[in-house]
Amino acid sequence: MKVDVLLGLQWGDEGKGKVVDVLTPRYDTVARFQGGPNAGHTLEFDGKKYVLRSIPSGIFQQGQTNIIGNGVVLDPVLFREEAEALEASGTDLKERLKISRKAHLILPTHRLLDAASERAKGGAKIGTTGKGIGPTYTDKTARNGLRVGDMEHDFDKKYAVARDLHLRRLEAMGATPDPEELARLEKTWFEALEYLRRFEIVNSEYLVNNLLANGKSVLCEGAQGTMLDVDFGSYPFVTSSNTVCAGACTGLGVAPNKIGRVYGIFKAYCTRVGAGPFPTELFDATGKEIRDRGHEYGAVTGRERRCGWIDLVALKYAIMLNGVTHLIMMKSDVLDTFPEIKACTAYEIDGKESSEFPFNAAEVNIKPVYKTLPGWQTDMTGITSERQFPKEFSDYIAFLEKELATPITIVSVGPDRTQTIERD
Ligand code: GDP
Ligand code: IMO
Ligand code: MG
Repeated sequence: MKVDVLLGLQWGDEGKGKVVDVLTPRYDTVARFQGGPNAGHTLEFDGKKYVLRSIPSGIFQQGQTNIIGNGVVLDPVLFREEAEALEASGTDLKERLKISRKAHLILPTHRLLDAASERAKGGAKIGTTGKGIGPTYTDKTARNGLRVGDMEHDFDKKYAVARDLHLRRLEAMGATPDPEELARLEKTWFEALEYLRRFEIVNSEYLVNNLLANGKSVLCEGAQGTMLDVDFGSYPFVTSSNTVCAGACTGLGVAPNKIGRVYGIFKAYCTRVGAGPFPTELFDATGKEIRDRGHEYGAVTGRERRCGWIDLVALKYAIMLNGVTHLIMMKSDVLDTFPEIKACTAYEIDGKESSEFPFNAAEVNIKPVYKTLPGWQTDMTGITSERQFPKEFSDYIAFLEKELATPITIVSVGPDRTQTIERD
């Protein structure tokens, strides 16, 4: 058996949570492979809405194993909040969830370092989610990190070393925390660590590979999006992990030849939260209409998401990097009212047309070249089959499939589980 990977092709918030939930019944296992509580994955069913941060979006379906892989960074406090809320709503977590021994822990001081680093950058700040993601991955690659499995042996000593290092860094940044405040944060953190201990801590690389060897199917759930990848995204305005498909290999211990389908998710338009280049961003009434209709406010921070037309230059780049085999188009209904839809087919940079996402996207002036297509001006939220698509919408799909040279196999027309249409 191979693993299938589902990941975002834009700047995050494409609707990964919703689709993972929809696809979960076809898999035995769902596994997160990177990111941490910077993610906010929303699911809606039976009139209720849930936002997941560190726990895989397969958790609500019956019978699957959900894994938090080694590539994930875990904040015990936020994990506890999330897990307790799920338990209160009747989800049996202990049975369904397993956590990698090798996942790195986000310490209270990592969050303080995240904030201090953003302050130090001033006008050049990234607009992080403030969850300590960057400093935790920095410690991981600098070989200073603490892992979930460290709880099992001599933890207090290891914690004290990491804490001292962080406090020295914070002091150098003029951000020494108030001792009482830090003590409070640490108390909550250590209590949450005790809570975490009650879960099954596993060698997830063995678990995943044994599942595959025994004919079980695995869906890997990405967080963030390809344009936020630390290597290939709009650096430095990115997150600190590999969000591309290769991240599933390193974040779960799955060999490249074990990757099966790659589901690439995108919105029928485009959004971005936080700072950094966004070539098709709209600052006019159309941008506002997309934001209002799409409720484009961050699931984690509540920040307004920046909105714009679909960017096929960035999408083609993302499809190439990930080896996408199946495309999934989300939030099509958000464009229901527009008389015209635009799609960026190339960039104009210094008077020259280009079809590549530039190295220094944050520094050059990118002028999008648009193709205009007729809108469908039909309410699609109640549509249940491809045969009911308005002609202009079918034409939009055909145009995208031709441009992207990849089939769009699922179309989403609303936030609910049921508003999902599979194409033949
Ligand atoms: P994720 O981070 O990729 O899981 O995406 P988010 O949950 O952060 O953001 C997607 C938002 O769009 C959530 O509020 C979803 O409930 C909502 N959503 C998902 N699919 C659709 C859709 O097809 N139409 C509409 N209108 N909303 C959707
Ligand atoms: P999901 O999984 C959208 C953005 C932040 C910021 C940059 C770095 O819900 O799609 P970080 O806290 O990771 O250091 O922030 O990345 N960002 C996201 N944007 N969706 C996300 O996750 C994001 N996770 C991080 O806004 O610009
Ligand atoms: Mg999100």
